[in-house]
Amino acid sequence: MHLPLVKAGKAHRLVESESEDRPGDRLRAAWTAAFVFPEGDSMENPSAPQAQAFSDVDRAAVYQAIFSRRDVRGQFLPTPVPDDLLARVLMAAHHAPSVGFMQPWNFLLVKSDAVKQRVHNVFAEANNEAALMFPNEKREIYSQLKLQGILEAPINLCITCDRSRSGPVVLGRTHMPTMDLYSSVCAVQNLWLAARAEGLGVGWVSIFHEKALQDALGIPHHIVPIAYLCIGYVSHFNNKPELEKAGWLPRLPINDLVYFEQWGDSDFGQNFPLTVALAKMQSDIQEKGVFPA
Ligand SMILES: Cc1cc2nc3c(=O)[nH]c(=O)nc-3n(C[C@H](O)[C@H](O)[C@H](O)COP(=O)(O)O)c2cc1C
Repeated sequence: MHLPLVKAGKAHRLVESESEDRPGDRLRAAWTAAFVFPEGDSMENPSAPQAQAFSDVDRAAVYQAIFSRRDVRGQFLPTPVPDDLLARVLMAAHHAPSVGFMQPWNFLLVKSDAVKQRVHNVFAEANNEAALMFPNEKREIYSQLKLQGILEAPINLCITCDRSRSGPVVLGRTHMPTMDLYSSVCAVQNLWLAARAEGLGVGWVSIFHEKALQDALGIPHHIVPIAYLCIGYVSHFNNKPELEKAGWLPRLPINDLVYFEQWGDSDFGQNFPLTVALAKMQSDIQEKGVFPA
């Protein structure tokens, strides 16, 4: 990383207090504590270090987090999650982009078995209903899928959206009112990626009646539950989405999804360099398990 390293004070104290049980903790703590922006930095100077691309190693780490992130349902371990680690992933979520900088999120942490059980009951009711909504051939696969790890995950977290947080008129949300909801989703994704980098699994559970979930968690009805997340250390991360492995749906070819200038206008066999690069990348991923770095 091209940012200055702080070698004194807080950084050292953090390193020394880390446990030796988890290899890499010391280094991670040192890096985390040392990641500081210089005083008075600005994006006006394009040669400033903070305007440059990451080093190859750091860039690869970002892509590694993105490509190896998984939705986790069934591999949670009971190992407790240290608070300093939880603090880092929550802070990553809190640094997500948000429309008009309204930061509409709250983070409701659940660790008690009693509350988890209440939420699980809400899930079970909706999940029974959900199974009946699919055609027969899919219903059987659906009923075999594990779609949550509420009781097994040591931490459950509900990320919400307070749509009234900064008053009725919000910069950037004036014409597309759903932008506040998307902001909270950005917080979810920040947390998900940070958690993967920390070796923590995250599973998003959305099979709930919204009001029942709000009631189970004491959430006022004007606050929208965006994501109910199951979080914890895991035995392993799958190399592919479980739904892909189960034959529920395949990953779509990206070139079917990329248009040029007008909706629906794809490459149409012109073999643009971008299209060729994307096709090769997707085949490398699918056939050789090689991801961009
Ligand atoms: C908005 C949202 C809601 C989701 N809800 C559920 C859910 O209720 N249960 C579940 O098992 N997975 C849920 N997922 C996880 C997806 O199934 C998963 O992201 C997808 O299959 C791709 O797998 P991957 O995340 O491992 O790449 C949800 C994901 C998102 C983004």
